Amino acid sequence: MSDFQAPRGIPDYYPPRSADFVRVRDTLTTAARLAGYGHIELPVFEDTALFARGVGESTDVVSKEMYTFADRGDRSVTLRPEGTAGVMRAVIQHGLDRGQLPVKLCYSGPFFRYEKPQEGRYRQLQQVGVEAIGVDDPALDAEVIAIADEGYRRLGLTGYRLELASLGTATDRPAYRDALLEFLMGLDLDDATRARAQINPLRVLDDKRPEVRELTADAPLLLDHLSEESAEHFAAVRGHLDRLGVAYEINPRLVRGLDYYTKTTFEFVHDGLGAQSGIGGGGRYDGLMRQLGGKQDLSGIGFGIGVDRTVLALRAEGVAQEEPPRCRVYGVGMGEAARAELVVIASQLRAAGIAVDLAYGDRGLKGAMKAADRSGAAFALVLGERELAERAIELKKLATGEQERVSLSNIVEEVRLLSAELDAERPF
Ligand code: HAM
Repeated sequence: MSDFQAPRGIPDYYPPRSADFVRVRDTLTTAARLAGYGHIELPVFEDTALFARGVGESTDVVSKEMYTFADRGDRSVTLRPEGTAGVMRAVIQHGLDRGQLPVKLCYSGPFFRYEKPQEGRYRQLQQVGVEAIGVDDPALDAEVIAIADEGYRRLGLTGYRLELASLGTATDRPAYRDALLEFLMGLDLDDATRARAQINPLRVLDDKRPEVRELTADAPLLLDHLSEESAEHFAAVRGHLDRLGVAYEINPRLVRGLDYYTKTTFEFVHDGLGAQSGIGGGGRYDGLMRQLGGKQDLSGIGFGIGVDRTVLALRAEGVAQEEPPRCRVYGVGMGEAARAELVVIASQLRAAGIAVDLAYGDRGLKGAMKAADRSGAAFALVLGERELAERAIELKKLATGEQERVSLSNIVEEVRLLSAELDAERPF
């Protein structure tokens, strides 16, 4: 074993498997870009209070899972556990809400939660997220959900479900909260669960223990206690999703782990992943801007998609690609002068947009040609001392073994043409 290991629960991403990681991230961000979301790059750590206030003190994320430490100036900072609070902070700080609304932003990168590591649950997790801030229009809720759905479909995923609910507005909730709490206090629950109910009775409905599930089977549901405004909003979101052909299931017990949600909330669940089945989730957040000190009180809606879990879902469905990185051309040089010449040719080909790798080191023609075959390249360029003296090079099509001699002065153009032909036949 080596002296060092990555910290517990922190994955590395390396070839060939990293290809799927990149594909998931890029496909999801492309789906967002096609709907007009601009890239935002956020700090990886922020003031601890931003997350405490934004995400909510009573959540597991804030109370148990944050990586919080004092920096050298004795300020309390926290590695970002999620992206929404940071986006809202940036929107307020830079006055982005004074421009055209909604402000549409997309981000990707690592987030940090001190959770118990297991397959699909990491202490450094990767998300692609979008946030649309400033307009409370059910069509925008549907857009955000449809972007995620489109992203998953472009990746080839099929075995996922969309669970949908509405949490109503902050004014809908107190009456429901009281009704739920009264119901829960009438049950034979253990002390810890009763205490949890006092802090947030909604969380008890999300309790996975079968005995608690059974006891709460007839609990009052928030969906039955929505105000007219919230109910209309929810119906409008569903109408848009129906017209878009985005399938969903209403889950009246959907509870998200973050406190800022209001109205529409949703989660994408994949059944091939065992316990860590949530591959993405999000919702609308009405009070967050005010909560974080914004002068305006603008609503937002967004999602965070778990890139790690989406990759696992692709593998579970057998649609992962795990392509090794491939170059189009593999250069083999015999002798120092030929290898030096190939370094220059490789750089010229790369400048022309063609991916090139070389047989480095002095390994003999046979070994180098084997490496060329294994590389997955379409063409090998073979340069020996004799060819070099004649200012020529052997160009070999690795699939057929066909070989031709090309003048060194023409080689970049020749490879460019052959490569363009290949792209037309089988783009990759
Ligand atoms: P979240 O549900 O906490 O939402 O996280 C979003 C996704 O990140 C989850 O569905 C899951 O796929 C992935 N994820 C979370 N924790 C882990 C973990 N420990 N290991 C692996 N994957 C994980 C948010 O973070 C919100 N900011 C989403 C949002 C944006 N809501 C509105 N806008």
